[in-house]
Amino acid sequence: MVVLGVETSCDETSAAVIRGDTVLSNVISSQEIHSRFGGVVPELASRAHIRLVVPMVREAMKEAQLDFTDLDGLAVTHGPGLVGALLVGVNFIKGLALALDRPFIGVNHIEGHIYGNILSQQTFEFPVLFLIISGGHTQLVLMKDHLQYKIIGTTRDDAVGEAFDKGAKLLGLGYPGGPEIDKRALNGDSTFYPFPQALARDKGYEFSYSGLKTSLLTYLQDKDKSFLQEHLDDICASYQFAAVEILIKKTMRAAREFHINNIAIAGGVAANSRLRKRLEEECRHNNRHLYLPDMQFCTDNAAMIARAGLEYLRNGFYSEQNLNAYPSLALQSVTTF
Ligand code: KG4
Ligand code: ZN
Repeated sequence: MVVLGVETSCDETSAAVIRGDTVLSNVISSQEIHSRFGGVVPELASRAHIRLVVPMVREAMKEAQLDFTDLDGLAVTHGPGLVGALLVGVNFIKGLALALDRPFIGVNHIEGHIYGNILSQQTFEFPVLFLIISGGHTQLVLMKDHLQYKIIGTTRDDAVGEAFDKGAKLLGLGYPGGPEIDKRALNGDSTFYPFPQALARDKGYEFSYSGLKTSLLTYLQDKDKSFLQEHLDDICASYQFAAVEILIKKTMRAAREFHINNIAIAGGVAANSRLRKRLEEECRHNNRHLYLPDMQFCTDNAAMIARAGLEYLRNGFYSEQNLNAYPSLALQSVTTF
C-alpha cells in the first residue's frame, strides 16, 4: 500500500511517501522565520504552510518517483496543533483525495510520533510502554497492539519540550531550546545545581514541568553575566538532568508495575542524547527491551503520519470529507473541522 502523508501542525511543513514500512521520500522544511521571535508565531506558520505545502508534496512525489495515481491513500495530521496551520494540510489533502478519488485519513499527531518509532524498527513487539515527549505532550501510554492505546499518565501543566524551550530562552539560547541545552550539557556538570524533579514521590504517573522552569527563573535572578558565562554548560546539564531523570524514573516504575518488557520513546525530546543514553543503561540493567526512534523520525515529519495513516487505511478506517466518520481513538484530540 502506497500512502502520501502531510504534516503541518506546527512549524514544519513536511510531505512523505511510504510503501508499507519503506520510506520512499520524507521532505521537511523547518520554518526559520520563528527563531527571531523565540517561539512559533501561529499566523506566520499558517502562511508559510500555504506557500510550502504544494512544492513539498511535489518534491516528495518526485523523490519517490511516483505519480499521484500510484497512491492508494492519503494521510494528514488533523490535530493536536495550531488550528490555522492544521487547516492548511487538512484542506489540501481533502482536496487531493477528492480529485484522485482515494481514501484519506486524519491522523492524531501523537499517534504519528508513535508510528515514527515503529517505522524505525525491523521488528516491533507488543505490548509496549510508550513515553511520548514533545513540545506539547508528556505522556505514558500502554499499547496492547496496533492502534490500541491506554494513557496512564500525562502532564498537569507544561510539556517537557516546553520546559526545554522556555529554559533555553531564559538562558539566552536559541529556539528550539532542546537541542541547544542538549549540546551545552555535554560539556557541563549535571550535579552543579539540584533543580527540582516534580512529583518524584507521587505514586502515580503524572508529570509537572512548570516548577522546573520557575526554579530556573528564580535561580538566575541574582546571577551576574560573568557567572552565567562561566557556568552556562553546568546550568544546562543540571537543568537537563532534572528534566530527564524524572521521565526515566516514572517510565521504569510503570514498566515494573504493568509488567511490560518493551519500552519505546517518541516525539522531539526523544532526540535528547542524555535521555537516550540513560534509558539504554536502565533498560540494560532491568532487562527491558528499548525501542529508540531514528533521529530523523523524532521531530515532526510526514513519514510518521503516513505510517500511522497506513495502519488505519489497511484496517479499513478512513475519514469522510466532513471528518465525521473519523474512528474514535483513545488518543483523539478535540480538534475538529
Ligand atoms: O515532536 P516535536 O518536533 O514537535 C511537537 O510535536 O511538539 O518536538 C519539538 C520539541 C521542542 O520542544 C524541542 O526543543 C524538543 O522537541 N527537542 C529536544 C531535542 N530535540 C528537539 N529536546 C531535548 N533534546 C533534544 N535533543
Ligand atoms: Zn510533534
